[in-house]
Amino acid sequence: MQAEEEVRRTLQELGVRDEQGVARLFQSLREQLQRELEELPGADGAELFRVRWLGRRQGILTAANDNWLKPAPAALKRPVGRLLNELKQYAEQALEARRQELATASQTVRLAAERLDVTLPGLRRPLGGRHPVQIVLEEIEEIFFSMGYSVELGPEIETDYYNFEALNMPPGHPARDVWDTLYLADGYLLRTHTSPVQIRTMEKQQPPLRVIVPGKVYRHDNPDATHSFMFHQVEGFAVDTNITFCDLKGTLDHFLKRFFGEAVRTRFRPSFFPFTEPSAEVDVSCIFCDGVGCRKCKQSGWIEVLGCGMIDPVLYGFVHYDAARYSGFAFGMGVDRLAMLRYGIEDIQLLFRGDLRFLQQFQ
Ligand code: PHE
Repeated sequence: MQAEEEVRRTLQELGVRDEQGVARLFQSLREQLQRELEELPGADGAELFRVRWLGRRQGILTAANDNWLKPAPAALKRPVGRLLNELKQYAEQALEARRQELATASQTVRLAAERLDVTLPGLRRPLGGRHPVQIVLEEIEEIFFSMGYSVELGPEIETDYYNFEALNMPPGHPARDVWDTLYLADGYLLRTHTSPVQIRTMEKQQPPLRVIVPGKVYRHDNPDATHSFMFHQVEGFAVDTNITFCDLKGTLDHFLKRFFGEAVRTRFRPSFFPFTEPSAEVDVSCIFCDGVGCRKCKQSGWIEVLGCGMIDPVLYGFVHYDAARYSGFAFGMGVDRLAMLRYGIEDIQLLFRGDLRFLQQFQ
């Protein structure tokens, strides 16, 4: 403000009479100008400075033209004019220098912020491995492919009809309870087994059939080391003329020996499923103790691996097969359980955690 004050008064009022006085006056203006330039912050400050000192209408140095140069006594016109020009030039140059400085500074800041260390190592995306369930599933498929089976798939969201009714479990049938079904809206449910695909396949294909059905199934179980609300099954069935329980036994015995090794013995125990008659559960001699008895087989020497039976002729009624002409067998196995036996995994939950330390162990 002080500079404006001074410039508004005339040289006479300020008591400036000689060249030295003029020089002193300009020196003090120059010092003030310098101070201000250093103190005004940033690019906005530089613009304020320009308007205040060099602005066309109100600029302090512009006003000096009118207040000092014009009314100056003849003897002082020259030095006032010269010093005024010098000061204007100085102000312009200083302003330009300040602007350069600001631009460089902001670029330096920006560059620092954008700095990229191109020598940093890249992100390592850890490799997993093939999932043990997938490995075992493909092995099972391979064995059945070699016996002429092909794959059919079905939906995980099923209707009551396919999951229960057409499998000989009419509404209210007590056997429905054993499956701990997860029900969805509008009469749908999550399939509790892959057996509904027996019906779906027979509906659209005529015998002879040799089919396996891999897939996910769901049950309302509390998760623990041996239970999971989702797990995997492989269903298998064959329908043709003259299929007997011997064919079932031979097929599964062959499969289990290929899967667990030729040394394994198999045993069929009578059991019950609503959709097979007769039904059986199949055990293999314990693969950990060779049937001697150990912790894994609960000292029994045997490990249960699947359920099976002759397809109950009632099912043929639902799919319009001639039950007098055709017969067949069916079986279902838990893939996760087979994978656990194969690799000695004791907690089924490990299969579904996606922990790389676990998964990397399998090829
Ligand atoms: N669906 C049966 C289960 O989930 C297994 C099974 C399939 C049994 C086919 C007999 C025949 O327990």
